[in-house]
Amino acid sequence: MSIFRTKNLDAMVAASRAPGGLKKVLGPFDLILMGIGAIVGTGIFVLTGTGALTAGPALTISFVIAALACGFAAMCYAEFASTVPVAGSIYTYSYATLGELVAWMIGWDLMLEYGLAASAVSVGWSGYFQSLISGFGLHVPQALSAAPGALPGVVTYFNLPAFVIMLVLTMLLSWGIRESARMNNVMVAIKVGVVLLFIVVGARHVQPANWQPFMPFGMTGTLSAAAIVFFAFIGFDAVTSAAEEVKRPERDLPIGIIGSLAGCTVLYVVVSAIMTGIVPFQNFKGVDHPVSLALKYAGENWVAGFVDLGAILGMTTVILVMSYGQTRIIFAMSRDGLLPKRLSSIHPKHGTPYFATWMVGIIFGLLAALIPLNVLTELINIGTLAAFSLVSIAIIILRKQRPDLHRAFRCPGVPVVPLLAVAFCLTLMAYLSAITWIAFGVWLVIGLVIYFTYARKNSLLNKQ
Ligand code: ALA
Repeated sequence: MSIFRTKNLDAMVAASRAPGGLKKVLGPFDLILMGIGAIVGTGIFVLTGTGALTAGPALTISFVIAALACGFAAMCYAEFASTVPVAGSIYTYSYATLGELVAWMIGWDLMLEYGLAASAVSVGWSGYFQSLISGFGLHVPQALSAAPGALPGVVTYFNLPAFVIMLVLTMLLSWGIRESARMNNVMVAIKVGVVLLFIVVGARHVQPANWQPFMPFGMTGTLSAAAIVFFAFIGFDAVTSAAEEVKRPERDLPIGIIGSLAGCTVLYVVVSAIMTGIVPFQNFKGVDHPVSLALKYAGENWVAGFVDLGAILGMTTVILVMSYGQTRIIFAMSRDGLLPKRLSSIHPKHGTPYFATWMVGIIFGLLAALIPLNVLTELINIGTLAAFSLVSIAIIILRKQRPDLHRAFRCPGVPVVPLLAVAFCLTLMAYLSAITWIAFGVWLVIGLVIYFTYARKNSLLNKQ
């Protein structure tokens, strides 16, 4: 059956190493920073407020549960990335194992993760940015300050700052990955710096009495919060989408994935413990700056200002890496003929897929400007959880199909660890709302229609 045709793994690996492709410039340190760049953002700076309201001080446990789901899946990602170091991440891996239809659906699903996350984070960025400039008496005209319908009772048409930040970062990405990585490293350093500053300053103001009762909403509240703050971990897998631009992918990709995930988990647990230790969790109602709120609550207004600035930079790197991941997946899908050829053309001077880059920037920038995306966090989570489950299943299949392949990194305890990843992801998905499931279903149906009307016919494998 043509929908189950698979790509030849050995040919893919050979092609990724052939001269003339994307430039190979990234090392392990770049990758860890790239991971942290993609991970620490809206999740910790904005969503922890909702998380604390849902779980109470047990938010720390919610973070650990979400981290476990990601950790098990990360082991599978790392094995894949070290075995098949080609662009396109899990889309490409599944093309070689589960067949074309599943690969297409995963690529389609990943647009919810990367593209929509870039849009959603741009909206968060815009909110923080406007709050920062208002401190200097500057204001974006109201009509251009948010998407239509985003603010109840206020007439707004277009979120201009969200659109502009997407375009600025798109320009950076189209210039080249080396330049983007350098810029990214600086911003990541600042963002991690403000998180550490929060920990050092905040720890002095913790009142352990605020941690009682620890789990006011029981396990249900804790798991529901885990399903929300899962968003905070999205992005570690973006590291794999850089595979073809890494100098020593077999060694460096697993280091990048696991290193960035572990580092962020520690930061998140400590930050959420301190936040809920300073402010009684009920006070986070309607707050979209929970981290700086905690500092203001403790009377540390200056430090709170720094944290706001760090949050803006932090979100900038998330948008950068998410957009980057999205362009590389589109690049890979186009190279396989599933999307129009133009999307995999490489700029002769910069060595970047500039057409795909600009298309991603403009489309997801417009979405950020026109749709109140905050509500779509759940949609991003469900798409990502589904992708994580599939990559974990694919690892089990690949071990059976191709035991001979050279694996620089092997996921420990197969099939138990991949199955644990699936179990954790499905559990978190079960705690997402019915409307999210419906929207996810609609998205998948649209994907199927495009596959059967366009992608299947135009697939390179079909032509061969
Ligand atoms: N993990 C990313 C964030 O929290 C998507 O912004």
